Amino acid sequence: MKKIIVFASGSGSNAENIITHFKKTEIARVVSVFTNNANAKVIERAKNHQIPVEIFAKNELLEQNILQKIQEIDPDLIVLAGFLLKFPENIIEKYPHKIINIHPALLPNYGGKGMYGMHIHRAIVNNKEKETGISIHYVNEHYDEGAIIFQANVALTDTDTPETVAEKIHELEQKHFPEIIQTLLEQ
Ligand code: GAR
Repeated sequence: MKKIIVFASGSGSNAENIITHFKKTEIARVVSVFTNNANAKVIERAKNHQIPVEIFAKNELLEQNILQKIQEIDPDLIVLAGFLLKFPENIIEKYPHKIINIHPALLPNYGGKGMYGMHIHRAIVNNKEKETGISIHYVNEHYDEGAIIFQANVALTDTDTPETVAEKIHELEQKHFPEIIQTLLEQ
């Protein structure tokens, strides 16, 4: 059985979807959730599935102890699912091609620092984009610039609002993210 660690900072709907998807398989389990936000809803979601949660402060991420905790678990894949801090280079170096992120836009557009969640969906509507989508990519030392593994698009109309865009993105994420993780783990 392979081991997945999920990093998340907020609601954790993707984290929970990954947890429940793999519970139904013999391929992998989410064995731990790491969060930098002591108030994140992802904590409750993980606990409901009896999954241990590591809560850490932003500065701790840069210190050796988070890397050590990861190494003790020895994961096959680290999944960033709504994790909003820059991922540290000391962990990236130790896990080449084993850290992936989901981004709620079609990279390389609408990526980079400050581009997350509703900020992106508002910019998409303001710019009257005809489509948006999701990108699943490897994590490297630059925000949202690692090699793209998968993208899916959705059409937009001029009646879309940031909230309806968020719903469309949520649907794409729920549909594709666990499947793509499974494909990576089966390679
Ligand atoms: C997701 O839409 C994810 O793509 C996005 O945050 C949301 C987290 O939702 N990530 C980013 O914007 C990263 N730049 P969730 O906590 O319910 O999974």
